[in-house]
Parts: sequence; structure tokens; C-alpha cells
Amino acid sequence: MNSTLRLTAAISLASLLPLSALAADSKGSVEVVHWWTSGGEKAAVDVLKAQVEKDGFTWKDGAVAGGGGATAMTVLKSRAVAGNPPGIAQIKGPDIQDWASTGLLDSDVLKDVAKAENWDGLLEKKVADTVKFEGDYVAVPVNIHRVNWLWINPEVFKKAGIAKPPTTLDEFYAAAEKLKAAGFIPLAHGGQPWQDSTVFEAVVLSVMGADGYKKAMVDLDNATLTGPQMVKALTELKKIATYMDADGKGQDWNLEAAKVINGKAGMQVMGDWAKSEWTLAKKVAGQDYQCVPFPGTDKAFTYNIDSLVVFKQKDAGTSAGQQDIAKVVMGQDFQKLFSSNKGSIPVRKDMLADMAGHGFDACAQTSAKDFLADAQTGGLQPSMAHNMATNLAVQGAFFDVVTNYINDPKADPADAAKKLGAAIQAAQ
Ligand code: GAL
Repeated sequence: MNSTLRLTAAISLASLLPLSALAADSKGSVEVVHWWTSGGEKAAVDVLKAQVEKDGFTWKDGAVAGGGGATAMTVLKSRAVAGNPPGIAQIKGPDIQDWASTGLLDSDVLKDVAKAENWDGLLEKKVADTVKFEGDYVAVPVNIHRVNWLWINPEVFKKAGIAKPPTTLDEFYAAAEKLKAAGFIPLAHGGQPWQDSTVFEAVVLSVMGADGYKKAMVDLDNATLTGPQMVKALTELKKIATYMDADGKGQDWNLEAAKVINGKAGMQVMGDWAKSEWTLAKKVAGQDYQCVPFPGTDKAFTYNIDSLVVFKQKDAGTSAGQQDIAKVVMGQDFQKLFSSNKGSIPVRKDMLADMAGHGFDACAQTSAKDFLADAQTGGLQPSMAHNMATNLAVQGAFFDVVTNYINDPKADPADAAKKLGAAIQAAQ
């Protein structure tokens, strides 16, 4: 059974069960399920909450802790099965299509807002297509994250005698050796599956380039998944893993980010939501910290578009709140404030084209420039680790093989590539 069928079967039970009553108030209340729970991310989402409450709606916070959203997705599925989905939930990428085909998402509620606010004109086609189902918006895109970043504490680099950020894997290993010799953790890393795969996909991009990445992660081409380039990527991954924080198993990403911020570690491979933690700690991009593309990936951009989907609700009053949230989210003020706090860049093309004019920092300016350039060259690729490239069943197969491989000191890269090919085929 594919993932859509599984989801549909589970959710068909939903209609048998009663809906829980929503709190009544003057303009309506909307529950929003999301996983923005680190200190910096909470500061970002509080911007949305404050605006929606100012507009007279009640925001019911459905935050579910757990980076990458796996726990939030489990909660969401059981809520849907129980016939009680929230008005709005953070869902991304191809998973949106799976949810929409269950019939649970509302394809009417955003129609007028999207038209009145000219979403089609404001969004890159790739972004708009991600949040549409059969031509209608079923979600509002919130922001664009770049995943293939390396975060560096320059003070730590200086203490370890490293002259400049690494631009190749060999320079990365040389820097990591120096950090280790000087008593620092070379690479802050939380050993949770989505974090392991965040590093894995960066290495695949570095070794195989954007075309190879696409063949493996998007097209799921078996020859590429099991071929010599993948074996090389897995060999490099194993080497990188030797520099990962020995105390990082099961750690949240933001606790690992804190080790770089506090000068205990030199680097972290993480999407630019990591910047939210630096911002919260009052650190300045380009000065107190550096963001550089993961070595060997400067011509590519793995994207991760956060978006909020709208679920059908029995209480018609909820739609006004859903529409208000969608309108606020696509507005320039929110796009600026949220992305500044969250570390991302706006989804609006007019803002992407003038990042300095909108007061964005050095990291965000680089990100927007690369996003627009890579959209022309094929360097712009969806992140597998962040639900943008495949459905969750296929992503789960990647996660299992990669995490087992990283954690098994005896694992052989050629054998792991074979396992990867088999697991991905079985999951489709
Ligand atoms: C991603 C999400 C980001 C951030 C990150 C860490 O999947 O798109 O917004 O929250 O997980 O939890």
C-alpha cells in the first residue's frame, strides 16, 4: 500500500467520529499545529500569533516539540483519524499532495485571499506548485530555508589556527583535525535520524553535484542510489561522522547549535533555522558567526519551504481565521520579521530581489542570491531530509539506512548503497 492509500485508509475512520467543539469567540479561533519550538523559532512564530490576535482571532497553539517534525506528523495523523484535525498545520512538500488527496484539506478557503493578494504573481512557480493541489492553493507558503549550510564560530577557528572556512571536503577534514587537536568538538551534531540525513544529503550534493543529487533523491534512480558515486558519498559521510560530537546522540539540533555559539564546537551542518539561535543569542552574521555553503556545494541550494495547510473544519467560523493567517503570512511585514527571526528568506519574489533594501543580513542576502541564480541552472533542489523531495515513506527508508550506517562502525559503504537501493524500492 503506498503512503497515500495508507493515509486515506486511516483517515476514512475520521468521518465516523464526532468533532470536538471549538472555542467560540467574537471572530473565531484557529488551532495551529507546528514544530517551531526552539527558543529562536518560538520568537519567530510569536510574531504570527501576535498579529493574528491583534486582528481579533484566538490563536490556539498546537506546538509539538521535536526538530524536523516527525513527532508533529504522528500527532497530526492521530488527530485526523480521530476526526479532529486542527484548522492549520505545518506540512511540507509532496506530503501536502498526499494529505490533499484524502479530501481533508480545504481547497476553497484560500481562493479569494490568493487571488486578491496575487499569490500567483508573487511566488516562484516551484514554490506555488508545492502548495497547490489540482490548481488550488491548499496551503500558504511561509518562508524558504536553505539546508546545505555550514555554521562556523570564527573565534574558535582562530584559536585552532584555521585561516578560512573550508570550501572542499579535504579542507573540511583539515579544519576538523585542527579543531580536534586544539580540544574543540569539530562538528556539533545531534544524532537524530533527520539530522544524520541532513548531513548525508549535503555530502551527496558535494560529491555528486546537483544532477546526481536529483537522480538519487528526487528521481530515486536505482543505478544512482547504488552506484560508485553513492559509495563515495557514503565513504565521505563515514569520515565526517568521526568528527561529530561524541555526546550528540539523540540531541536536539538547537542544543548542538548552542555548543558552536558558546565556543565549545567549531562547526555545525544545519539548515538556516540554526540562525534563529544565533539571532536569539544576539550574535551578528558575518561578524560573530559565519554561514558558508557546505564544502563543495556553493553552486547548489537544497530548499525547504515551510508551509501551513488548511484543513476542512465543521465550524464555518474557523475559515475567517484561516484566511487571516494566510493573508498575514504572505504580507511583506510578516515575511520580513518572521524570516529575520527564523533564519530563512521570504517566499515573495519582490522581496527576494531586494534583500538589502529590506534590511536582511549577509547570510540571508547570499541565500536569496543563490536561490534565484540556482533556480535558473538546476542547482535548486528539494531537500530529502526536510520532506521536500519524496513522500514520508521513502524519506523514512533513507533515514533508516543512513542512521544505521552512521552508527555502525563496521558498516561497509558499498553494502550500505545496496541497502539504500533496496529500501527505497520497497518504500515506493
Ligand atoms: C524543518 C523545518 C524548519 C525547522 C527545522 C527544525 O523541517 O522546515 O522550519 O523547524 O525543521 O525543526
